[in-house]
Amino acid sequence: MAQNRTSPMEISWEILKQYHIDEDVGFALPNPLEELPEKYNAWILIAKNLPELIKTGQLREEVEKLPMLSIDDLKEYEQQCLGHLALGCITMAYVWNRADDDVRKVLPSNIAVPYCELSEKLGLPPILVYADCVLANWKKKDPRGPMTYENMDILFSFPGGDCSKGFFLVSLLVETAAFSAVKVIPTVLQAVQRQDKETLQNTLLDMANCLRNARKVFEEIHGYVDPDLFYNVLRKYLSGWKGNPKLPNGLLYEGVWDDPKQFAGGSAGQSSIFQCLDALLGIEQTTGGGPAAEFIKEMRTYMPPAHKDFLYFLESCPSVREFVRSRDDADLKEAYDKCVQALVSLRSYHLGVVKTYVLDPAKKQSREEETGSEQLEQEHRGTGGTDFMNVLKAVRTKTTQSLLKDR
Ligand code: HEM
Repeated sequence: MAQNRTSPMEISWEILKQYHIDEDVGFALPNPLEELPEKYNAWILIAKNLPELIKTGQLREEVEKLPMLSIDDLKEYEQQCLGHLALGCITMAYVWNRADDDVRKVLPSNIAVPYCELSEKLGLPPILVYADCVLANWKKKDPRGPMTYENMDILFSFPGGDCSKGFFLVSLLVETAAFSAVKVIPTVLQAVQRQDKETLQNTLLDMANCLRNARKVFEEIHGYVDPDLFYNVLRKYLSGWKGNPKLPNGLLYEGVWDDPKQFAGGSAGQSSIFQCLDALLGIEQTTGGGPAAEFIKEMRTYMPPAHKDFLYFLESCPSVREFVRSRDDADLKEAYDKCVQALVSLRSYHLGVVKTYVLDPAKKQSREEETGSEQLEQEHRGTGGTDFMNVLKAVRTKTTQSLLKDR
């Protein structure tokens, strides 16, 4: 297991690479491929044209015509990632099609079999996850140019115009901005190991600055993602089949399992970045039971295994929080609290975003359609199927309670 791969003393960039963490793009896949070996062209062609095929009513027919392909020729990790992303997009489009009540409960074997085989190889579930649609779904227009919205694009999108691009790319840019804080983890752990208060304090202050910058990047979502399109279109294609009344038993993966399986939909809750900072700072989101702890733990099962292992590794390291507490040094405590406060601020901002992009459009719709409170309550379930407002508030409360001020 990866948590035994290294001791904190040895931690350096060379070692973090074992956890599939890249020095420049962090948890994102560096330079995702855009093409697969020729025999898989039909997958890529369908995945690239989802909005058009859905609009013309051809999507399901085209998927059903696909030949059953073995995954044996997807030998490289990057090819497997692209295969998982393409089949994930096709699966979501096949199940939800026009995002109305005409839902498919069976995924045909020609797609289900290679998809489940690839999922097993990568240690991911057979549904579109954050690691697919955000971490592996991007390219630079000018390869030598910067990682900015203007110089980037996504590889695959769903109906809803530029909404997919805005949501996936802003998520990626928040992720890479926050990664500047993760980059210094080796320095933090070494400082704790060496009882080097000065270095720890300065590094924690740097981390807090990086997180404040990530929050600024988050604000860009309002310029690129329209709330009505997100709520009424994109969100529906990211929905899963766990706790979803439209697929109460889940999805039957024909030719793979005899019973339908339930999986949560794609959500940035599956990002490792916030969980990684919680783990480093000793913010115990996964302990004590309750829906929020269960949610955070469950989201780990949707992460690439190497990233999940990195979280366990961080949890096994000497505690930064305990070191700061034990020193009883006001400046050090303040530096630690600035990091925690920056995380609280990110989570508060996120709650505001959720209000704008889910709660407000849901209320608007229920007023227009005069739908009852039961349906509104159902709409309060995220793409991951959780009662998300309570969960998100509980996660933020746990973060706030971790401040050391006055302790
Ligand atoms: C339109 C924009 C967004 C909406 C509507 C949204 C909505 C949600 C919802 C409903 C959840 C609860 C889990 C679920 O049911 O899926 C969630 C969780 C989460 N989201 Fe977002 N989200 C958005 C953008 C982002 C972005 C850009 C990030 C950062 C990359 C992010 C990071 C997280 C995290 C880390 C969680 C887990 C809870 C936590 O650790 O605080 N979200 N989001």
